[in-house]
Amino acid sequence: MTQSSTLRPTVKIVEMGARDGLQNEPTQLSVDARLALISGLAAAGLRHIEAGAFVSPCWVPQMAGTDELFRRLPHNDGVNYSALVPNLKGLEAALESGCREVAVFAAASEAFSRKNINCSIDESFQRFLPVLETARKAGIRVRGYVSCALGCPFSGAVAPQDVADVTSRLYEMGCYEISLGDTIGTGRPDETARLIEHCARRVPVEALAGHFHDTYGMAIANIHAALTEGVRTFDSSVAGLGGCPYSPGATGNVATEDVLYLLHGMGYDTGVNLDAMVTLGNHISEALGRVTCSRVGRALSARITAPSGH
Ligand code: HMG
Ligand code: MG
Repeated sequence: MTQSSTLRPTVKIVEMGARDGLQNEPTQLSVDARLALISGLAAAGLRHIEAGAFVSPCWVPQMAGTDELFRRLPHNDGVNYSALVPNLKGLEAALESGCREVAVFAAASEAFSRKNINCSIDESFQRFLPVLETARKAGIRVRGYVSCALGCPFSGAVAPQDVADVTSRLYEMGCYEISLGDTIGTGRPDETARLIEHCARRVPVEALAGHFHDTYGMAIANIHAALTEGVRTFDSSVAGLGGCPYSPGATGNVATEDVLYLLHGMGYDTGVNLDAMVTLGNHISEALGRVTCSRVGRALSARITAPSGH
């Protein structure tokens, strides 16, 4: 499964396993184990890896040690390692640790904003202003997230206009890319298409990314719908790890392995090796005492290990 043709259209994968993936796991991995995972992701060909979060360790203990992790990550290996920052304190820690790209995270639902970052949507934008300003002066890029883009675990349905409002505020503030998060994984492809249509009226579609959790098994269908609408950047997580600690019941991101199977089959180039990701997905799942959530990972592992003739 080589993906090297320069003639094929490309899709950018932003790997979430080391951040979204690990932040909700009951087993807390050491910094050494997190670095080993990240090194495996880079070796498989991923060039955009969200490696951690500079958030309060009281809120998300799994992300403690992100400063040490960034200090030990390789520099100049062609991989773009990024981290979440909720405020200026987080950005300052990121800069001190050598992090060269950060992401701020907003929500399209007031209830979720309060649960996740303990402030209203407007207050969160007040916190992001100095983050964007300081990052600009430091010459580093800022990505933006909009949680609850297809529904909120606390207040239910979210109007696409509300998502588009938050999306365009982040873009106008200076975020180069806005990732639309189906935090609880309830969205369907028809809703995804409608959401992208609304957001793409306010922000260039090239600046939009899809971040689908797979709770209801709709994530691959949602990616297909977003592709049809022109989105070419997707977030995914090796083995489908993860979830948001402040989104009760929601499961992990769509598995990177499943996304690669879809995209490569459709003729898109991602630069990522599917077989290597399947092996890595099995290893990290074992380390966490679970089985991989990737259906493609399970199918390919069974095929690889099945006796001949079966
Ligand atoms: P707060 O309690 O309102 O903050 O939390 P505060 O300013 O009052 O500070 C409280 C304490 O936290 C203080 O320490 C601060 O120094 C410290 P104390 O004086 O009590 O010892 N603090 C920090 N420590 C480390 N790093 C920081 C930081 N800021 C303050 N940056 C806060 C507000 C935002 C800090 C808190 O709510 C928080 O850390 N939340 C993080 C929540 C989180 O990480 N959620 C998961 C990621 S979002 C997600 O998964 C969704 C996404 O995947 C997309 C999708 O799927 O929808 C992106
Ligand atoms: Mg997420």
